[in-house]
Amino acid sequence: MTRRDQIRNAYRLTGNNASFYDGMMTYSTLPGKVICRLVWNMDGKKNLRYLERALSGVPEGFKGKLLEVPVGTGVLSMPVYKELPEADITCLDYSVDMMHAAQAKAETVGIRNITFLQGDVSALPFEDGTFDVMLSLNGFHAFPDKEAAYRETFRVLKKGGTFCGCFYVRGGCGRTDWMINHLYQPKGYFTPPYETEQSLRERLEKMYTKAKVTSVEGIACFRCRK
Ligand SMILES: C[S@@+](CC[C@H](N)C(=O)[O-])C[C@H]1O[C@@H](n2cnc3c(N)ncnc32)[C@H](O)[C@@H]1O
Repeated sequence: MTRRDQIRNAYRLTGNNASFYDGMMTYSTLPGKVICRLVWNMDGKKNLRYLERALSGVPEGFKGKLLEVPVGTGVLSMPVYKELPEADITCLDYSVDMMHAAQAKAETVGIRNITFLQGDVSALPFEDGTFDVMLSLNGFHAFPDKEAAYRETFRVLKKGGTFCGCFYVRGGCGRTDWMINHLYQPKGYFTPPYETEQSLRERLEKMYTKAKVTSVEGIACFRCRK
């Protein structure tokens, strides 16, 4: 199954019981589609485009050690992990409730090679240079201590390892910026300061090699090597 098919099929993990959150992340329910269009100015094609780019640093058939922070409900990554039975995967999140949803999905589709851990990205409980791939989907706009998160994700990655993912950046879509300022930030879902596409590129170029940053509306997708 291609990566595109894996992403397209993500909504099947939740089926008719898709939560509001999962429906929004996968553009698969009516309320989810409304939010994607209204807040993120994204249709199904743009949604698929950003996810493909964000996940492009996880090679098909990957067999090494991968850390995902934050896993959330796992709606985006579990379909990918289903096709990586020989990888050694660790998923971490601060929220036990979000992670329970991810664990339930893994069990439903019979994924056995994932360790789930409750924890904080700003103090990761791993040795330096532990992982070959560090994946972070939609996390850095939420993390309260972003400097510590950048430091820790770098520290636990092996030399030559890949850091990839995506998150909200300011300046990609005016409507999104307005919604974040007035709705998401006051509710605590998002925490400033936010990167722009350019500031993220400059940051990653300083820390990593081969940094590639591209945006789809207000979401920056990145991939770089330690
Ligand atoms: C928007 S969700 C993204 C989840 C998932 N990666 C996705 O794309 O659907 C943000 C997640 O970040 C987690 N989070 C926030 N602060 C965190 C921290 N300091 N350490 C680990 N996870 C954190 C939240 O619990 C939440 O599950």
